[in-house]
Amino acid sequence: MIINKEQVLAALSNVEDPDLKKDLVTLNMIKDVRIENHHIAFTLELTTPACPMKEMLKNACTNAIKHFVAADAVVSINITSRVTKPNDTTQLNAIKNIILISSGKGGVGKSTVASNLAVTLAASGAKVGLIDADIYGPSVPIMFGLIGAKPSAKETEDGKTLILPIEKYGIKLLSLGFFADPEQEVPWRGPMA
Ligand SMILES: Nc1ncnc2c1ncn2[C@@H]1O[C@H](COP(=O)(O)OP(=O)(O)OP(=O)(O)O)[C@@H](O)[C@H]1O
Ligand SMILES: [Mg+2]
Repeated sequence: MIINKEQVLAALSNVEDPDLKKDLVTLNMIKDVRIENHHIAFTLELTTPACPMKEMLKNACTNAIKHFVAADAVVSINITSRVTKPNDTTQLNAIKNIILISSGKGGVGKSTVASNLAVTLAASGAKVGLIDADIYGPSVPIMFGLIGAKPSAKETEDGKTLILPIEKYGIKLLSLGFFADPEQEVPWRGPMA
């Protein structure tokens, strides 16, 4: 039996990306299909190099080909990733690069790393903003010597209120710490947090 590309793609259209809930062919993730007798090779292009489902998808592809095309097929899959920019219409479109600093543990230096990265990038000529998304213990006001600082706001023509970030060392800064009195407790619970 001669195996053709259409058969391979038809088989792979049974494999769904568990996150995106569509099949790999529809998602245009299958590239560069090569067939030589019963040897089938292709590239699986993931959306992130850190995809936790890599092995699972690889096995699912191999099984689909063995099941729908040929049981004796020898399948080799090359995994790559194409990191796409967010394709939405939000204001994030105006931002070229986003660096997220996070950890699964408290007090390990997230704020220190984020602040120093921001200052260093700004000093090297980048246009930088830093959002302190820490709702429990925002430390950016302390790190930047801005305890007690309050951002101002302005009304846009269409009636929206824009919060204007505070600027320090050439960086635009926002932190929940700017909106709460340092002495005041802020109760964050459930859906609000
Ligand atoms: N590389 C480092 N070596 C030693 N101490 C550090 C280092 N980085 C940060 N620290 C110190 O560790 C403490 C915690 O740092 P930081 O506040 O940046 O952590 P964090 O991960 O943001 O904490 P939190 O989870 O409370 O937000 C601070 O006192 C900081 O000065
Ligand atoms: Mg912190």
